[in-house]
Amino acid sequence: MRDIFDAIQRSAKRIKEAIDVKDIGYSQQENSSGETQLELDIRCDMIIEEEFSKVNSIHTIASEEKTHEELLHEDGAYFIAYDPLDGSSLVDVNLSVGSIFGIYKGGFGSEKMVAACYVVYGPRVEMVFAENKTKLYLLQGGDFEFVKEIRLNEKGKLMAPGGTQQNWAAYHKEMIDGFFAEGYRLRYSGGMVPDLHQILLKGGGLFSYPGTSDKPEGKLRRLFEVFPFAYIYEKSGGEAIDGQQRLLSLGYGHIHDTAICFFGSNYETNRVKEVYAKNA
Ligand code: F6P
Repeated sequence: MRDIFDAIQRSAKRIKEAIDVKDIGYSQQENSSGETQLELDIRCDMIIEEEFSKVNSIHTIASEEKTHEELLHEDGAYFIAYDPLDGSSLVDVNLSVGSIFGIYKGGFGSEKMVAACYVVYGPRVEMVFAENKTKLYLLQGGDFEFVKEIRLNEKGKLMAPGGTQQNWAAYHKEMIDGFFAEGYRLRYSGGMVPDLHQILLKGGGLFSYPGTSDKPEGKLRRLFEVFPFAYIYEKSGGEAIDGQQRLLSLGYGHIHDTAICFFGSNYETNRVKEVYAKNA
């Protein structure tokens, strides 16, 4: 695992440089989710692929930017699914973005997940790596330094409600309104990594991306976004559910499958379970 941890750190430093200097003009290609790929997305994908290719313990990689998995080392034990630059359209407006990594042993699938990691590129570059515990690292003077272990409180104060509100179910809207009526504060940038990072570091709250009338299965991708954050939230003492079940109990059919998702501290996710058990 140490060699993977090091490869992610090398990738993160190179991606930070690419974000700082790269012209972010649109490429002509679309990714597997039909989004126009930025040249920056492609560059970040190449960086990670190059760094992972040097690690013999990695068997196969799957990138959010590619249609198919790619075999790297026949004898490797680990399978890594990653989103090289999540929320990349936010670079244009100078908001924070991130890279997300789900690390599996013996094949992809939530039950095989053994670690997860993300990197936030904001005013500072930070990395969160969860194996048995969730640990925060800060890029300082060219190296990632350990800062602290992250634990969620039982209840938080922040609310990050994703999806187009017009297309929410009435019971979902009522639930979110209920949280705001209790005093929760809105914190939603449209970047999954910084939005979930903020909730983790500020002690708790709820990030939601529900099923909507236009996207009944949500928007966020199981392998590249949902499972890694589910793992990180659980290891931090929180919960990650699809309304009722643990996200990490869900399977996947295609590598680009999405899931309805809620990540948060226990008070908020218990409320989601109550509401969704009655309505969904
Ligand atoms: O999957 C890409 C992404 O940009 C996530 O980072 C973010 O949480 C989500 O989409 C935002 O979606 P929406 O704009 O529909 O709320």
